[in-house]
Amino acid sequence: MSRSLLITRIGELVTNAPLEGDSRPGPGHGPGRFAALRGAALIIDGDRVVWTGLASQAPPADEVADAGGRAVLPGFVDSHAHLVFAGDRSAEFAARMAGRRYEAGGIRSTVAATRAATDARLRAGLNRLAAELLRQGTTTFECKSGYGLTVPDEARSVALAAEVTDEVTYLGAHVIPAEYEGDPAGYVDLVCGPMLDACAPASRWVDVFCEQGAFAADEARAVLTAGLNRGLVPRVHAGQLGYGPGVRLAVELGAASADHCTFLTDADVDALASSATVATLLPGAEFSTRQPYPDARRLLDAGVTVGLATDCNPGTSYTTSMPFCVALAVRDMRMTTEEAVWSATAGGARALRRTDVGYLAPGAKADLIILDAPSHAHLAYRPGVPLVHAVYRSGRRL
Ligand code: NIG
Ligand code: FE
Repeated sequence: MSRSLLITRIGELVTNAPLEGDSRPGPGHGPGRFAALRGAALIIDGDRVVWTGLASQAPPADEVADAGGRAVLPGFVDSHAHLVFAGDRSAEFAARMAGRRYEAGGIRSTVAATRAATDARLRAGLNRLAAELLRQGTTTFECKSGYGLTVPDEARSVALAAEVTDEVTYLGAHVIPAEYEGDPAGYVDLVCGPMLDACAPASRWVDVFCEQGAFAADEARAVLTAGLNRGLVPRVHAGQLGYGPGVRLAVELGAASADHCTFLTDADVDALASSATVATLLPGAEFSTRQPYPDARRLLDAGVTVGLATDCNPGTSYTTSMPFCVALAVRDMRMTTEEAVWSATAGGARALRRTDVGYLAPGAKADLIILDAPSHAHLAYRPGVPLVHAVYRSGRRL
């Protein structure tokens, strides 16, 4: 039998729980809008939150933990990460900082290193990144394949990803590998055929890098449709390096999210606003490629649901830190601290179509973080400081 735990003397409890009259879905249906309580407490039983409210009104529990005035937040939900790879591209980063432009082709150098790596080496790298994520408060994360690009290498990538998360994304359409340079149609056939057959059983999502230098609209549509036919739900890398058809394709196919969204036309914004597709912004990529940041205000003002994620990958955003992304979103993308924290928790849950994470209310999974700070604002106010004091996942302190 599980023992209940009361966490009390919480300085600020970010719940993202639906308020009275909130038309957005409530507990059991996922997070509501940003919401927070001061002087709060929370009770965990087993792997679930069973009570939240004012500390002064908390019912008794088997055990008590004193938060000492610290802030408690839902664990971060990182809905976009590329964690299965080998090799190092710090020289490419350094060259960019010296003035070189980012090009999608850099992916191929990681592909070569990943193909050459043993399973043990890939697993060790993946486990290291997964541990980093957790230490920094990320309790749910997505993980893509996409650095194998042969049937066996993509199959082992999704199999390895499935060892660390339920949110596995098949990204065989990351870039055209060198050996298919003259035959892109042949590669798309492979991605939609034997490679999909090998990867679908271990995957929940299908993704494509729809961008100049990667996959064009018709190719992306073929890949996403093939995935849909196998029960995978689309997500799309769209508008990272320039304007393109990715966002509208994502909306048309009912994708869970369109990611990057740095270059958007008015039609793209309108399409997102009238859809359930989340716009997932990845400011670590703009930081690390020295591109302009996406215009978060334009999306928020249009009523688009915005998520924030790390895009952790060796080429364009080698960070596992959601706090860093929150700080960038606040400082450089003009999101409020509330919006940024919502997008990094509830927004990520929406992007992964999860109704059990991203909020703290009765029925939610007991995935939470305690900050060594009195409020969520400190995540941006104290950039670069390791503020995550404790992490609970499924009700267990890690
Ligand atoms: O999300 N955009 C495509 N994929 C990665 C970059 C991968 C790489 O350069 O290795 C991204 O930024
Ligand atoms: Fe990415």
